[in-house]
Amino acid sequence: MLRIIFKNASQSRSKPQSCPFFSIISRSYSQLHSQIQRPSFGIAFDIDGVVLLGNTPIGGSSQALKRLYDDCGKLKIPYIFLTNGGGFHESKRASELSELLGVNILPSQVVQGHSPFKQLVKRFENELVIAVGKGEPAAVMSEYGFKNVLSIDEYSSCFDNIDPLAQYKKWSTKQEVDQNSTLKMKNIVYSQRVQAAFVVSDSVDWSRDIQVLCDVLRTGGLPGRETGHQPPLYFANDDLEYQAAFPSERLGMGAFRIALEAIFNRIHPKALEYTSFGKPSPSVFKNAETILSQLVSSLHHHLEAGNHGDAGSHPFKTLYMIGDNPSVDINGARQAGHPWFSILTRTGVFKGKENHAKFPADLVVDTVEEAVDFLLTKECSS
Ligand code: G3P
Ligand code: MG
Repeated sequence: MLRIIFKNASQSRSKPQSCPFFSIISRSYSQLHSQIQRPSFGIAFDIDGVVLLGNTPIGGSSQALKRLYDDCGKLKIPYIFLTNGGGFHESKRASELSELLGVNILPSQVVQGHSPFKQLVKRFENELVIAVGKGEPAAVMSEYGFKNVLSIDEYSSCFDNIDPLAQYKKWSTKQEVDQNSTLKMKNIVYSQRVQAAFVVSDSVDWSRDIQVLCDVLRTGGLPGRETGHQPPLYFANDDLEYQAAFPSERLGMGAFRIALEAIFNRIHPKALEYTSFGKPSPSVFKNAETILSQLVSSLHHHLEAGNHGDAGSHPFKTLYMIGDNPSVDINGARQAGHPWFSILTRTGVFKGKENHAKFPADLVVDTVEEAVDFLLTKECSS
C-alpha cells in the first residue's frame, strides 16, 4: 500500500494514475517538447539508498530516470546525482552509472563528495599530498590538477614496517612498481614533507590509514620524525552511517574521522584540525543549483542564441532533492532553503512510517520512482 506523507497536508494529491497528466507521461516526450521550453524545475538524486544499494539499482530508479529523457534519449528534465560517495573521477562514475541505470549520464551530472577538492588545486598544485580511500583516490586528484599526489597505499609502501599489521593482511596493497619508480617515489617521500592529506573516499584499511595519517599529521608531514605542525586534513564527507547492500546501515567516512580524531587527540598535544566537505553543507546545494543551471543552458543552448549573458543562471522555481538520509540529504536541502523541495525515500537510512522528527522532509515516499511520479505530476499540472 503506497504511503506518501506530505509535510504540509495542503500538498496532498491523488495517486498520479488518476491524474490526467499521468496519461500524458505515457505519451511521447516530443509531444511535450513544445510545452517544456526551459524547465522551471530540476532534480538532484542522492545515490546510496535512493538509486542504488551497492551496485544494484533500487526503487524503480532506472525507469524513473528514463522518464526524464525524450524518445530519442535526449535529456529533457535537468537532473544531477548529488552523492557524498566517491573514489572514481566523475567521468568514470558517469559511465558506470549509465551502464547500471540504462540512460546516458554526462560527467557534469555527477557531483561527488570530493568534487569540491578541485578548489584546492591552486594551493597544493605542486605540493606533496596524499589521497586516502577506496577506488582510485590519487588518479581522481591528479585529474583534478594535483601534480604531486600519492595514494596512501603508495606512500605507505615507501616506509618499511610503518604498518606492523601488514604481514597479517591477506590482501597486499604492494603495487608491482619497478625499482626506478619506487626509488623515485622514495626520494620524493623522504625529501618532501606532506603538505596536506585528502580523504577522498571511504578508507579500506582503517588500522593502516589511521596509523599512517597519525604519523604524517603529528610530524608536520614526515613519518618517524619529531612532532611538528599538523598539515591540513580534508574529508570528502562526514557521514556517520550510510545505506549499502547490507540490511542495516554501514559505518561511513564520518565514523572513520571520529576514530582518527579520538586517537590523534590522545597522542598529540594539539587537537586534530580538519575540514569536511559534502552534504548537508549548504555550499553543496548552492553549487548543485549552479550546475543544474549550466545543464539547462547546455540543453537549451539553441534557445539561448543571442543572450549569452545569463548562461548558467537559469532561475528555477523548484529544485527537488531526493534522498534517504534525513540528517544529510533532507537537513541539507532544508538549510539551503528556496528553491529546494526535499523528498525522503524509505529505501535507505530512513525506514520510518511517517516523517523524520528532527529533519522532516517536504514529502516522504516509498521509492525514487514515486518521487519522480509526484514531481512530474506537480510540475506539469502547474
Ligand atoms: O560513502 C558514501 C555514503 O556516505 C553516502 O553516499 O550517495 O548516500 O550520499 P550518498
Ligand atoms: Mg544516501
